[in-house]
Amino acid sequence: MAGLPISLRHRIFLLLLLLVGSSVHCSRETYSIHELQWGKTSASHSTSGRRARRAAGATILEMRQHLQSPRSYLKLLIEDEARVESLQSRIKDPMEMEESTSEAQVPLVSGIKLQTLNYVVTMGVGGKNMTVIVDTGSDLTWVQCKPCSYCYSQKDPLFDASASPSYHNITCKSTTCYSLLRAATGKAGVCGADRSTCNYALSYGDGSYTRGVLGRERIDIGGTSIEGFIFGCGLRNHGLFGGTSGLMGLGRTQLSLVSQTTSQFGGFFSYCLPTRILNSSGSLVLGDDPALYKNSTPVSYTRMVSDPRQAPFYFLNLTGASIGGVPLDAAGFSNGRTLIDSGTVITRLPPSVYQTLKAEFVRQFSGYPPAPSFSILDTCFNLSAYEEVKVPKVRFGFEGGAEMNVDVTGIFYLVKKDASQVCLAIASLQFDGQVGIIGNYQQKNQRVVYDTVASRIGFAEEACS
Ligand SMILES: *[C@@H]1O[C@H](CO)[C@@H](O)[C@H](O)[C@H]1NC(C)=O
Ligand SMILES: *[C@@H]1O[C@H](CO)[C@@H](O)[C@H](O)[C@H]1NC(C)=O
Ligand SMILES: *[C@@H]1O[C@H](CO)[C@@H](O)[C@H](O)[C@H]1NC(C)=O
Ligand SMILES: *[C@@H]1O[C@H](CO)[C@@H](O)[C@H](O)[C@H]1NC(C)=O
Ligand SMILES: *[C@@H]1O[C@H](CO)[C@@H](O)[C@H](O)[C@H]1NC(C)=O
Repeated sequence: MAGLPISLRHRIFLLLLLLVGSSVHCSRETYSIHELQWGKTSASHSTSGRRARRAAGATILEMRQHLQSPRSYLKLLIEDEARVESLQSRIKDPMEMEESTSEAQVPLVSGIKLQTLNYVVTMGVGGKNMTVIVDTGSDLTWVQCKPCSYCYSQKDPLFDASASPSYHNITCKSTTCYSLLRAATGKAGVCGADRSTCNYALSYGDGSYTRGVLGRERIDIGGTSIEGFIFGCGLRNHGLFGGTSGLMGLGRTQLSLVSQTTSQFGGFFSYCLPTRILNSSGSLVLGDDPALYKNSTPVSYTRMVSDPRQAPFYFLNLTGASIGGVPLDAAGFSNGRTLIDSGTVITRLPPSVYQTLKAEFVRQFSGYPPAPSFSILDTCFNLSAYEEVKVPKVRFGFEGGAEMNVDVTGIFYLVKKDASQVCLAIASLQFDGQVGIIGNYQQKNQRVVYDTVASRIGFAEEACS
């Protein structure tokens, strides 16, 4: 099985790769051709229609990538690394973080630093459509509100609470202001100047923040109305939120959108992230419906690992991985400390796992010339001379036998358009005690299912774009 068929088109940023079957015992591999489109980082925010529809038991929202401004790949990876460092510092020692008065104590919201790889959906807030970043790593949903004392510029009109009859302030004496907000953000709210409103402040360590008052409002999500939804009315907001109106928090505490809509959607949501940056959309589905899975492989589930000190985060127990069907053995597996995150781009693995994975990948990919490292990516190849490349399958295994097959579009990161520097899109953490992260680059073309009531997360392969 020498070269495998596919063409590398240098000019138009298309890299067609042939995915090799998982078995290294080569006799009955199956092949299929996948098309990779590598980022043309020009702006395209919302040309496609904002659809939402309702299946029998579920509400489906179109999920798109939000591209605000051209960013270089290098910048993007540097920002991804900064985000991972902030996550690690919070997770490593949460008690210390909580007691400090520094603003870094609140969870870093996914996607903030990564404009080009944010995923957004449109929802109604008090009857107005708002495009918000989808984040599984935080809980408070917020939008920018009038009268802003400072707001970044956004595409939709600002939300005007005073003009909405369904808006109500939440008081600072409420448990929502104290305990729910504290559980969700690490910091309880405080009384506003008029001694009644609940002032919240959420900061992101890089200088990004939202501050404002907690309110209740009717929200509309793909045809379903939810009355009295608790959200943040952001009056001072700053940072890399692109031109979005705010953020949708899908984490694990009671304040998250998933928890607040349990009676409508059963504490269940799923998404499929699209592989293409332009003209494609995946879906965010609230609720469960068997019809959703008719185009996917069966869902395999693993247990959500709970850590009460890290309330918003979804942890999993990553028990193994395989490259081209060859299972890896490493000390860093099975510690129950792998985060699945919609906002981190590149998957990070403990060094013991990463080095084993890299060695096996390089062994199987040894026919291709190496290329220099690129930022955090240190397993790179020069494929510019090849019409055809053979890419080993990458598979992650989780407690309970769940498997996630990384889509072919999630294996390589094309650094140079002429394919002279193509890197394995997985990186190492600094030491084994750090928390592994399954990033969104490796979650593409998967239906990732969050069942918060049964406390499990599932994976199924699905071509969503
Ligand atoms: C908001 O979005 C929904 C769904 O896309 C659409 O049907 C509706 O017309 C929009 N409403 C406004 C006020 O733009
Ligand atoms: C909410 O609180 C703000 C600030 O005190 C106040 O201006 C506004 O009128 C209140 N809104 C409602 C609906 O009570
Ligand atoms: C995306 O869609 C727009 C409008 O539908 C079209 O003009 C454009 O060529 C498309 N871009 C790509 C890369 O397909
Ligand atoms: C992770 O799963 C493995 C295999 O089932 C198990 O041995 C290990 O104890 C689990 N780790 C945690 C932290 O639950
Ligand atoms: C990549 O490989 C091609 C063909 O072998 C070679 O001409 C080119 O110089 C290499 N590029 C780099 C950056 O090494």
